[in-house]
Amino acid sequence: MTHLTKLPAWAALWQLFDDSQHIHMRTLFAEDPARAERYALNVGGLFLDYSKNRINDPILAALLTLAQQAGVPQQIAAMFRGDKINTTEQRAALHVALRNRSNCPVCVAGRDVMPDVNAVLSRMGRFCHAVRCGDWLGYTRQPITDVVNIGIGGSDLGPLMVCSALKPFGHPRLRMHFVSNVDGAQLKETLRQVHVETTLFVVASKTFTTQETLTNALTAREWFVAHAGDPAAVAQHFVAVSTNRQAVAEFGIDPAHMFEFWDWVGGRFSLWSAIGLPIMLYLGEENFGELLDGAHLMDEHFRHAPLNANMPVLLALIGIWYINFYGGGSHVIAPYDQYLHRLPAFIQQLDMESNGKQVCRDGSPVGVETAPIIWGETGINGQHAFFQLLHQGTHISPIDLIATLENRAGLPGHHEILLANVFAQAEAFMRGKTADEVRAELASQGLSGDALARLLPHKVFAGNRPSNTLLLAQLNPRNLGTLVALYEHKIFVQGTIWGINSFDQWGVELGKQLARTIHGELTGKGAAGVHDSSTERLIRLYLQSRQL
Ligand code: F6P
Repeated sequence: MTHLTKLPAWAALWQLFDDSQHIHMRTLFAEDPARAERYALNVGGLFLDYSKNRINDPILAALLTLAQQAGVPQQIAAMFRGDKINTTEQRAALHVALRNRSNCPVCVAGRDVMPDVNAVLSRMGRFCHAVRCGDWLGYTRQPITDVVNIGIGGSDLGPLMVCSALKPFGHPRLRMHFVSNVDGAQLKETLRQVHVETTLFVVASKTFTTQETLTNALTAREWFVAHAGDPAAVAQHFVAVSTNRQAVAEFGIDPAHMFEFWDWVGGRFSLWSAIGLPIMLYLGEENFGELLDGAHLMDEHFRHAPLNANMPVLLALIGIWYINFYGGGSHVIAPYDQYLHRLPAFIQQLDMESNGKQVCRDGSPVGVETAPIIWGETGINGQHAFFQLLHQGTHISPIDLIATLENRAGLPGHHEILLANVFAQAEAFMRGKTADEVRAELASQGLSGDALARLLPHKVFAGNRPSNTLLLAQLNPRNLGTLVALYEHKIFVQGTIWGINSFDQWGVELGKQLARTIHGELTGKGAAGVHDSSTERLIRLYLQSRQL
């Protein structure tokens, strides 16, 4: 594999970068009345406007050549074929099989996985139907009213984000709770809100070894048994979602109440699998199917559209342009839809756990910047918090502005204010405000001389700040599926261009290992480890606090 920086397109892009530094997006818009039309795409109910980026046709052409030279088409094909593209774990990365609505065979090690995928979906469907229609009863023969998902990372963020986003589609009787933090406060506060006789716990862990999840699940079970008074009642109130049947049985959940998925599903890509059980419980089988359909639509687009009209590929390349050439190593996710308020956290894991790597698939250094720092907040709140930096700070931080055209809340007057702000922000980032414009504005307000000159530099906006605008026709299961799949594939394309494996996460291991040793020291159940003086002092401080 030729190193990225040795590809001819890489050098060509540096040349274009040098040549295009002086170009302002204002000029690009002025020179090309068709720019907004040419730099936009639709996939299903999702519209992308990428015209407010510091790109032009030659830059885009060179980025597309880079994608070709870096083997993006081949890697896309390899993923859909079920090749073991997660090379450090020798696994396929087949989240696309989970929503393969065409049902054509997808083989892992020569075996079609679709029958297993469909069988689990059917089991999930039967179980969710029973819970939703009130046939699945708790130990006092009452229907379930509360579902508590216990899981962390990919076993939490996807279901939490989707259930929050699609709340208007939720079952009116069911309240959804998500416990991820091993800080007992979260579980304690959740248990305070639910009733033992009508609560279903979903213990979600791909490995079923994650300490945070197992600790929370054990405490929840103790709470349950203490209140129910009968350990046999656990069967109606605890189900598991995992790839690890044996660990589920050892924990004490009947494998008959386990919903399975497979090692070729990465945690952060797993909401489409049985990890989506809380989603299906809340939204129903049909809506879960719609979510899968929407993702499949994006999969088909990603697989078949030419690179120059391929939404994930274009977003990935525009991202590469800023990360690697402008040195803008941060990316903001700003949903202007309250229901999408957990989207930034979800995409943060998706991107940073996938591409936060420094070596290529062959172990050699990547040598260039990789995953951006993903951060964000609902856009309108961000405007009154951190957008100042985006407009006038020294960092270039590309931003995705995500909004919904439909006024789902239905309250008069709100939606136009919201959308006006989305469009205004994108315009402001692009246009900025020149010194001449500020001068004229201040003069019209009666300012002149020193007073005007003193204020002027503070009021100038350089503009030329990149943004993508993503509009969903409606925030429904289908369009959400399309949106999430867009980000999954964008991240995969970027990983491919950097030559890294986007599907492992070794970077989380060291902290886990050290925490095991320190946990032994904090609880007096382990030998003293060898630490630096700072860590020793922190441990001592905790131990002393217990003696007070
Ligand atoms: O943080 C590491 C990680 O392995 C994530 O990738 C994963 O989503 C999370 O922990 C939870 O893992 P599990 O589902 O195995 O409990």
